[in-house]
Amino acid sequence: MPNSPKPFRLMFVCLGNICRSPAAQAVMQALVEVRKVADRFEIDSAGTASYHLGKLPDSRMIAAGAKRGFKLTSLAKAITAEHVASRELVLAMDRENLNNIRRLCKQDSQNVRLLSDYLDETWPRDVPDPYYGSDAGFAYVLDMLEAACPKILDDCL
Ligand code: 4NP
Repeated sequence: MPNSPKPFRLMFVCLGNICRSPAAQAVMQALVEVRKVADRFEIDSAGTASYHLGKLPDSRMIAAGAKRGFKLTSLAKAITAEHVASRELVLAMDRENLNNIRRLCKQDSQNVRLLSDYLDETWPRDVPDPYYGSDAGFAYVLDMLEAACPKILDDCL
């Protein structure tokens, strides 16, 4: 069997791992499939809090994603220092979670960045937490992710 090259491991991180980062995982997975590069990537997500471990994404995020053809099927897990060490790139949804990840890793983690680093300044720095808001907040998260993911992919290829 021919040796396949090592996949690029990409992890998205939010607080609860039931809204923003599972949506990011689904948007990016759909994109690598459309671009026919899915075999080169392993994409997952995690949370910096452990309120919802083992749960499917929030039903409002699943519904908002389904309207745009995205399937959210991940189960929530809490990020560990080992996750960060084993991923080529870890993207935090907001500055609070970026700081949480950096604190967890202690050492300088060059592979940990903010998702909005891939967006221009017409977008906010933080992907807004939609959990306590309206349906519009979930749609806005997807707007931001659909803008960022092609840029992230171009940078990873
Ligand atoms: P996420 O959203 O970080 O995008 O998954 C949240 C989910 C749950 C809570 C907060 C944010 N919570 O407080 O339970």
